[in-house]
Amino acid sequence: MHDEPGNRRSSHALRPLTVDDVDACLTLWRDTPGMGLSSADEPDELARFVDRNAGLCWCADGPDGLVATVLCGSDGRRGYLYHVAVTTPLRRTGLGSAIVRTALESLAASGVRKCHAMVFADNESGRSFWEHVGWVPRSDLVVFSRDLDS
Ligand SMILES: CC(C)(COP(=O)(O)OP(=O)(O)OC[C@H]1O[C@@H](n2cnc3c(N)ncnc32)[C@H](O)[C@@H]1OP(=O)(O)O)[C@@H](O)C(=O)NCCC(=O)NCCS
Repeated sequence: MHDEPGNRRSSHALRPLTVDDVDACLTLWRDTPGMGLSSADEPDELARFVDRNAGLCWCADGPDGLVATVLCGSDGRRGYLYHVAVTTPLRRTGLGSAIVRTALESLAASGVRKCHAMVFADNESGRSFWEHVGWVPRSDLVVFSRDLDS
């Protein structure tokens, strides 16, 4: 990574995230304020997601573990991004936008033409990032959820 004052750019290589990376993902996410972890983030569920969406999820390695992640999934019609995270010291170096761009390229290559990002409503910083990089918040949609085991 080049360390020019005020203009730091990450040169971390991105690679596809695999099921073997799930524990390292959790280590990064647990250290990431604003990252909401739920019951869907148990290692088995995460491994299933990554397996079903092979080639769409991406990460970057640092000396002590993962420094960036994105979970990207597709239902064949639309793509969905979750858990876009960059370790704090590397933020504002282009890594977050690079990993999102790479996920979108892999989605587009699979024929999907639109992608949604899931962000908790109270994650002001996360919302501000998405808007800054050109994503449009939806006011015409509300997410309804239901547990299947109740
Ligand atoms: C959001 C996050 C992934 C951004 O990663 P990053 O590596 O800092 O992003 P980049 O350096 O690629 O930034 C791209 C652009 O967005 C801007 N930006 C980055 N974070 C921003 C923020 N919180 N608010 C506004 N703009 C932001 C950068 O200045 C840059 O602008 P530029 O292209 O005009 O220079 C990172 O801050 C993070 O991990 N946050 C915690 C987890 C989270 O909230 N994720 C999002 C919800 S899933």
